[in-house]
Amino acid sequence: MTVKLNAFAKEHKEMLENFLRSSIERLEAPSIIKESMLYSLEAGGKRIRPLLLFATLHAFGKDSKKGLHTAAAIEMIHTYSLIHDDLPSMDNDDFRRGKPTNHKVFGEAFAVLAGDALLTYSFQLICETPEEYAAADIKLKLIRELSKAAGAEGMVGGQVADIEGEGKQLHLTQLEYIHHHKTGKLLAYSVLAGAILARANVEQIKVLSQFAFHLGLAFQIRDDILDLEGQEELIGKPVGSDTNNHKSTYPSILSMEGAKEALTEHIGKAMAYLKSLGLSTSLLEEITELVAKRDH
Ligand code: IPE
Ligand code: IPE
Ligand code: MG
Ligand code: MG
Ligand code: MG
Repeated sequence: MTVKLNAFAKEHKEMLENFLRSSIERLEAPSIIKESMLYSLEAGGKRIRPLLLFATLHAFGKDSKKGLHTAAAIEMIHTYSLIHDDLPSMDNDDFRRGKPTNHKVFGEAFAVLAGDALLTYSFQLICETPEEYAAADIKLKLIRELSKAAGAEGMVGGQVADIEGEGKQLHLTQLEYIHHHKTGKLLAYSVLAGAILARANVEQIKVLSQFAFHLGLAFQIRDDILDLEGQEELIGKPVGSDTNNHKSTYPSILSMEGAKEALTEHIGKAMAYLKSLGLSTSLLEEITELVAKRDH
């Protein structure tokens, strides 16, 4: 990571994490649900989705504060998806972000409810973005696109297909659908939200969507690889979860070598789209390179 991305990531993570904490603290709600929400939000995580949003704003020369509420909303939806993904009825995992999973600490009922609360709160937060950062028409677009990215047409649809695919030998196109939806849609939304907030034009949004499509696939291919080759202390979640759950993954369908080739190919395409934009995309380019190499 260059000095530039390092400093950018540090500053923005701090800003985001302070905002996440104060957003939960101010809720008038039973303390157990606040504790459960905060437990998973504060367990760590790379915050790659918020960073993508902030880096996209940066590419358009816009102030990060514009995107703070939406970045927090995305991280809340992502965290809810992880809490539910780890439940015994889904991937049944005991560790996440280096800590016991939410249901291990708070029980299944409060884990489900913490997920529900994070999901709904995210839309409230976007609505509460100060007018100086996002006008009403922008907020509406942000909310509509987030609903699509997170719901049945997006992440939830991908999770459903992922579960339906357990124990089956899937074709690559079916696996691509799963990865694009369960992971790609929310990652792509992070870039799209930055573009919406910056009032990007239609052509720029089209190219950024193509960039984000390849980035999202690459991100989940790397996740599949790390499920086999990763170190538990680094990834903060169990290695071998996919194998235990009889999931089709890029390495299981294409072999490890084929999965790594696919990863390189998607990173290359993502990078080419990015560079074709002619904007200040150096931070986005660095994040893209990191996705290919990440060890956690
Ligand atoms: C994990 O996401 C789940 C996937 C969609 C692959 P991340 O790898 O971004 O997890 P955190 O937020 O850093 O814990
Ligand atoms: C989950 O994919 C994606 C979402 C949580 C939406 P995985 O099940 O592979 O994610 P990890 O490996 O548990 O983080
Ligand atoms: Mg899963
Ligand atoms: Mg999982
Ligand atoms: Mg995984």
